[in-house]
Amino acid sequence: MVSKLNSRAPSIADLKRRTQKRIPKFAYQYLVGGCNSDQAVARNRHCLDEVALHPAYLSRAKTASLATTALGVQYDAPFGIAPLGLSGLIWPKAAEYHATAAKKANIPYVLSTLASTSIEQAAACAGSNLWFQLYPPKDQEIRLDLMQRARQVGCNNLVVTIDVPVAGRRPNDIKNGLSVPPKITLNSIYQTLLRPSWAMATALNGMPQFANMQPYMNKLSNLEDVANYIRSTLKEPVDLAMLKELRQQWTGNLIVKGVLSVEDAKLVASINADALIVSNHGGRQLDLAHTPVEMMQEIVEAVGDKLEVFVDSGVESGVDIARYLALGAKLVFSGRPYMYGVGAFGKEGADQCIDIFSLELEQVMNQLGCSSPHELVKFIN
Ligand SMILES: Cc1cc2nc3c(=O)[nH]c(=O)nc-3n(C[C@H](O)[C@H](O)[C@H](O)COP(=O)(O)O)c2cc1C
Repeated sequence: MVSKLNSRAPSIADLKRRTQKRIPKFAYQYLVGGCNSDQAVARNRHCLDEVALHPAYLSRAKTASLATTALGVQYDAPFGIAPLGLSGLIWPKAAEYHATAAKKANIPYVLSTLASTSIEQAAACAGSNLWFQLYPPKDQEIRLDLMQRARQVGCNNLVVTIDVPVAGRRPNDIKNGLSVPPKITLNSIYQTLLRPSWAMATALNGMPQFANMQPYMNKLSNLEDVANYIRSTLKEPVDLAMLKELRQQWTGNLIVKGVLSVEDAKLVASINADALIVSNHGGRQLDLAHTPVEMMQEIVEAVGDKLEVFVDSGVESGVDIARYLALGAKLVFSGRPYMYGVGAFGKEGADQCIDIFSLELEQVMNQLGCSSPHELVKFIN
């Protein structure tokens, strides 16, 4: 059933515009920003726009179905929600809304290590649609405990992010005091006063926390200590040795996120990972990075017979999802659009984002004459 929000916000761009009007500028800039001078964000857009498909009007298949299978599980659509840290800064309970919407739509939901909602809370909302993203803490005990907690709530898919060896350099966040630890400035107070519904929701729910890390830092009282703790705990870049160790420690599916080269893809395949996500982190880490569009086909060609290849970065519509599927992705993740949904309309906005993606992708597939997501690769030449 199409939501009643469909006439008010029929596109992701509409959700984005509404979000900009509803959340403080510092939160909006944290969400939309890339890094350095935002070149990678622009290149993601440019490269996606260059992908065109040809229709088969005279040899068309019957009605399109979005259903797909990934890592042995049937999903109702070939897309999912990417991990988003500090989710509560955009809107309190954003991660819970996303997790609930993902379960309802039967798509994957990936909870970030640094989300404002705990693994246990997210599992209560997402059920078996919960995947967990790990920034592996260098303290082995904490790392194993996080994995154990994910296991205990029935999560079978562990996503390990490799593309944050250092923090991305984001000038707007620095200017807005969103450094670690955050600084409350006169300007941020002013920005908050201009967005009363966000201020009220945040006042009612409390400042966003790093809910998953809370049990390990109970004795830390102030924000600066918490920030220093997170920084030093998660400081280690993920190397091949760490991936091998995680492969041994995690018996479920291991998915490696942030692959941008054939070399890294082959190394990921060599440790028997089950899937990888081609991603430039939405352009937030390396401003001169290649885009997933440029790398997808080469990576699928090199390792597609050994593991499943997923993708994210830059998706702003169901049309973009069709483009990535046509380049060989089995699942297409995205981050910001789902936050625009919640920023715009709260809980219902998460459903609305999924509806927009579904309706747009279905329209493209029916127009092309394509019956299922994995068939889209035939429409690219
Ligand atoms: C606000 C924000 C927070 C993010 N936090 C994380 C995170 O905690 N862990 C992670 O692996 N990726 C994180 N990412 C990257 C996303 O998982 C994903 O790779 C990216 O958003 C894809 O690009 P898109 O936003 O254009 O869809 C974050 C992205 C955004 C926008």
